[in-house]
Amino acid sequence: MDFRVEPSTIQNAEVDVPGDKSVSHRALMLGSIATGTTEISGFLAGEDCLATLQAYRDMGVAITQHDATRLSVHGVGAAGLREPAGPLDLGNSGTAMRLMAGVMAGQGFDSVLTGDESLTGRPMQRVIAPLTEMGAAIESDCDGTPPLQIAGGLRLHGIDYELPIASAQVKSCILLAALFADGPSRVLEPAVTRDHTERMLRAFGADIVVDGRTITLQGRQQLQACPIDVPADLSSAAFVILAVLLSKDASVLIRNVGVNPTRTGVIDILQAMGGDISLQNPRSLGEEPIADLRVRSSALSGGEVDPTLVSLAIDEFPVIFVAAAAASGNTSFSGIGELRVKESDRIAAMAAGLRVLGITVEEFDDGAIVHGGQFSGGEVDSFGDHRIAMSLAIAGTVASSPVTVRNVAGVNTSFPGFVELMSNLGVRIGVESAP
Ligand code: S3P
Repeated sequence: MDFRVEPSTIQNAEVDVPGDKSVSHRALMLGSIATGTTEISGFLAGEDCLATLQAYRDMGVAITQHDATRLSVHGVGAAGLREPAGPLDLGNSGTAMRLMAGVMAGQGFDSVLTGDESLTGRPMQRVIAPLTEMGAAIESDCDGTPPLQIAGGLRLHGIDYELPIASAQVKSCILLAALFADGPSRVLEPAVTRDHTERMLRAFGADIVVDGRTITLQGRQQLQACPIDVPADLSSAAFVILAVLLSKDASVLIRNVGVNPTRTGVIDILQAMGGDISLQNPRSLGEEPIADLRVRSSALSGGEVDPTLVSLAIDEFPVIFVAAAAASGNTSFSGIGELRVKESDRIAAMAAGLRVLGITVEEFDDGAIVHGGQFSGGEVDSFGDHRIAMSLAIAGTVASSPVTVRNVAGVNTSFPGFVELMSNLGVRIGVESAP
């Protein structure tokens, strides 16, 4: 499947983007091992979260889907998961694989976690190492990639672990395993990362203490179900924000967006580039802060992106690269090496795509310099990565001629309805079958 995008005029509008992927995964995972029924609203019915949903169903959890975004998860309690009939296929989802590795290490049965071509190429040693220290036994391919074969029936113990990389997935993996371990676990992060797991554990009644970058969780805890309202995903809103910023004379309101401060690096970075983005009506949705985002067309200028914001904007660099390419002057990025092990090598994928569109990009191991310019038309590849596909599609809205983005089916992992929403905003986007 390909996108064909033509130069477009963005309409003034109020829009809703789908639910937060990180929060949706966690609601399923905690709801499944809690006692009682967790009612979820605003759930993201994208392929990644649906893979997690299926995995828990495969382990005997009854999950009722009332409609696309409303679910009831009938928790089976800490000891209630049942051995699945076969490997759990987590599709494209690194979050599902890394967080569930923590859960599975604490079960009484063996399990196998696998996924698609992208996921089975991603590094898992980062979760295998701490889980092994907790007493787990996990086998991977020799290069540390999935499938993961996780032995059940082992007694885990709490650990004191200093994360070598800033990763919410690794942090959350350890916290989930810690729920099944003897004694407390303590995790120290090198930089603050998204804290949805910590917030949701608290909502489910867990004894968890956060002190700066250190999180302490008591072992062998039984979670209690609680309702979870999932905010709209700022990572999806980022594509709308980008389209509006690059357009002329547009003003768009994106409603009910999660603005957890561990996620808002993209807003800070785009504002520093001159982006007119304001947070209106800030309020709370359960444990998560939300707001409506008012975005207006803006003249962007380049500069140095603050490296301390990287872990707070980790999924939005494809969007920020496109903003940088459309800005005046050069934009330099450093400390972004983690982008190379996402759903694709996002530094290489964005450099390749932007170069096709006539933009000069200098690429380094853990950084890049993007030279501002004018997008030409052309044919670019998403490398099967949803966020690369959507970012390059938005570049097409301000290109001098049409842009074709190849290999875009992955968009459904995180943003079902992307094409319809963008079309309603005035983006001239069509979906074509690959020749
Ligand atoms: C996520 C954490 C991030 C992010 C991913 C979602 C999460 O990954 O890139 O899309 O839900 O915990 P890392 O922890 O590997 O940085």
